[in-house]
Amino acid sequence: MDRDHLINQRLNVPDELPSTMQLNAQRQLKHFLTVETLSPLLLEEILDRAESFVTQPNRIQKQYSLLQGKTVMNLFFENSTRTRTTFELAAKRLSADVFNLDIRTSATSKGESLLDTIRNLEAMNIDIFVVRHQHSGTANFIARYCAPHISVLNAGDGHHAHPTQAMLDMLTIRQHKPSFQPLKVAIVGDILHSRVARSQIHALSILATGEIRVIAPKTLIPIGIEDLGVRPENIYSDIDQGLKDVDVIIMLRLQKERMQAALLPSEQEFYKFYGLTEERLKLAKPDAIVMHPGPANRGVEIDSRVADGKQSVILNQVTNGVAIRMAIMSMVMQTQQQEQTRIAI
Ligand code: NCD
Repeated sequence: MDRDHLINQRLNVPDELPSTMQLNAQRQLKHFLTVETLSPLLLEEILDRAESFVTQPNRIQKQYSLLQGKTVMNLFFENSTRTRTTFELAAKRLSADVFNLDIRTSATSKGESLLDTIRNLEAMNIDIFVVRHQHSGTANFIARYCAPHISVLNAGDGHHAHPTQAMLDMLTIRQHKPSFQPLKVAIVGDILHSRVARSQIHALSILATGEIRVIAPKTLIPIGIEDLGVRPENIYSDIDQGLKDVDVIIMLRLQKERMQAALLPSEQEFYKFYGLTEERLKLAKPDAIVMHPGPANRGVEIDSRVADGKQSVILNQVTNGVAIRMAIMSMVMQTQQQEQTRIAI
């Protein structure tokens, strides 16, 4: 079996790198691959740092030059609008140089192995790889094999994880609700194919959220969801029951591109039974907030009047996406700088 074949096979392994390896010996963030295994303290630190970027948008401040002289490479093997753009903006706001590798015209599409592509990019002195890939485990794989001075940020890998999305969602919740402990949070829709839902459940559990509910047809709930931190009594297939008295509603997109079988009768049926309408929203607490990671399918999982309504915080999520990515990039680069100083002495 040749090396490339082995590499490609390995990409299907979700946990190529133990997620604890995203921290260095001092337990500082070196890569950002998943929120799983991170401490509540570290999550709070990320949120606090991101908040400082939201509340002090004055770019003259010192923290805006944290990535001066650094190079960030966006490696997006899957389509993206919000995530890629906000990573790019975040890097630029921190004064980094940013490159977006166009995968369609790159040598990877000519059959070059992922590892060879990475080796070549490394030779151009890159400091951060931002990776999105359709296979679970890709960001972990790159983190394991790239040079030690490079940090890898997971921008979504298969069904596995989307940690920066989960963190920007946590920031949005924290801006609207005083504490996570008393909250009832409902995640609605295609949980089965959603890396966002997995990362959100991990983050909400770490932050000690009172009740994490999932609402979906049985065919769209992954087996073993209880192991992620959802109690069996909080799994609902009836949306009207599941939305009762919740503080936060997170709608998910139907990931048709990932569905391998007919898991749903039709989009119209889905909307009828699971779409978030104005009527259904009234079942939640009157001050409940409505979230969606985007891209949203209006009329499939969410009514336009709700998506654009006064309880919607969907655009706040996008704004927070820049701040969270600035926080993560500045943290991993500080870790790298401290490591290099340690090596030098
Ligand atoms: C999500 C993703 O790509 O996982 N979108 C995003 O990052 N904003 C969710 C989705 O595609 O539905």
